[in-house]
Amino acid sequence: MFSAKVYSDRREKLRKELLSGLVFFPGNSDVPFNYPANIYPFRQDSSFLYFFGLDRSDVFGVMDLDDGNDYIFGNDVGIDDIIWMGKQSTIREQGQKVGVEKTALLKEIGVMIQAAKNKGRKIHFLPPYRSEIIILISGLLDIPITEVRANASLELIRGVVKLRMKKDVLEVKEIEQMIDVAYKMHTTGMKMAKPGVVEREIAGTLEGIALANGGPVSFPIILTINGQTLHNHYHGNILSEGRMLVIDAGCESELHYASDITRTIPVGGKFSQRQKEIYEIVLNTNLAAIAAVKPGVIFRDIHLLAATEIAKGLINLGLMKGDPKDAVDKGAHTLFFPHGLGHPMGLDVHDLEGLGENHIGYDEEITRSKEFGLAFLRFGRRLQKDFVMTIEPGIYFIPDLIDNWKSENKLGEFIDYDKVETYRDFGGIRIEDDILVTDTGCRVLGTPIPKTIADVESMMNM
Ligand code: GLY
Ligand code: MN
Repeated sequence: MFSAKVYSDRREKLRKELLSGLVFFPGNSDVPFNYPANIYPFRQDSSFLYFFGLDRSDVFGVMDLDDGNDYIFGNDVGIDDIIWMGKQSTIREQGQKVGVEKTALLKEIGVMIQAAKNKGRKIHFLPPYRSEIIILISGLLDIPITEVRANASLELIRGVVKLRMKKDVLEVKEIEQMIDVAYKMHTTGMKMAKPGVVEREIAGTLEGIALANGGPVSFPIILTINGQTLHNHYHGNILSEGRMLVIDAGCESELHYASDITRTIPVGGKFSQRQKEIYEIVLNTNLAAIAAVKPGVIFRDIHLLAATEIAKGLINLGLMKGDPKDAVDKGAHTLFFPHGLGHPMGLDVHDLEGLGENHIGYDEEITRSKEFGLAFLRFGRRLQKDFVMTIEPGIYFIPDLIDNWKSENKLGEFIDYDKVETYRDFGGIRIEDDILVTDTGCRVLGTPIPKTIADVESMMNM
């Protein structure tokens, strides 16, 4: 946990973004896995962690914007629980660790909210994503369950986004430490990727590294020789010569800051000529996008620059044709690069996404496109200093999408479908780094993880 002052300062800054009323931050509860006492690993809500820091189930935070008081609601454990869980610090002691002096029993939350409601005070809450919190808020505020998310406070969402998007030195340190764990995960994966190995042997080893060095993983590991499926969580294939292995994996720190790194490697440790050609396009795109990052630049423009790099490379190889800018204007690159260039990263691997992607990644100036491909760009607006983002271009040969487009000769003036057919079993390549926007550009965070062809081959053959 950070010092109590870090959490008090964050709440103080949030106060300045809001006018009046109560701010209700419900922490998460334990979630049953297959019966009530067998639970999923506990994960606290990220905004609760940011403002109230306590990493335990069943605690609520409240900020009273009008009298300046902060509260934590939670129950102390009795002897029956201590027998199973060991001694626990009291709610009062826990509150003090995060700069909150006023604590009360969990059931008192109802009394406080009811009193505020009776006085007609505004009660701010973020859009809940867990059903038990939706039910709780529905009951406390008399809002139909189906309308709870829509009644979240826009003022609060904007304030939280403004604060959480900018990472301070403490947070960047946490993130970099987790990229260093990702270094261990990815370099281990590189050394294990031999023909005959089953994907899950590597995925399990990498998850173990995350758990042993911080952990858990920041999202279910993507590790597959079928990288053309963007979020492929199936780990049952046997690695064979000639396939590319996509490993998209990161981990969470004890304080729950994430890393998110992707590398794509040739099974067996040697790129074929064909693999090299596609890989170099993705690598050049990754480098060009990173070079374009600086405060004030519109991230959607960097995404389109990346798309243009990909189109240029594929035109050189004869898979695409025509003018690269025209091709990107018409969306022809999305046959190969259908997703967005990157997303914010922090306490959530897709940071803040639960508050509504459009509140995080778009604003009055840059609104979300409805076009295939560009619509998947999670973040499009101008970058600011201290944002942490991923940069993750890719090229994929998705047989169903190829068939779909080819059947109507979609954008045939930009795509050589006969040549594309010869790549339909290629798979996919993605290269992802995590960057911090600085005063004048950006810094790729963490210990560099091999990504040139020479460095990847050398690590794989160590
Ligand atoms: N690393 C998974 C994703 O960014 O969606
Ligand atoms: Mn990512």
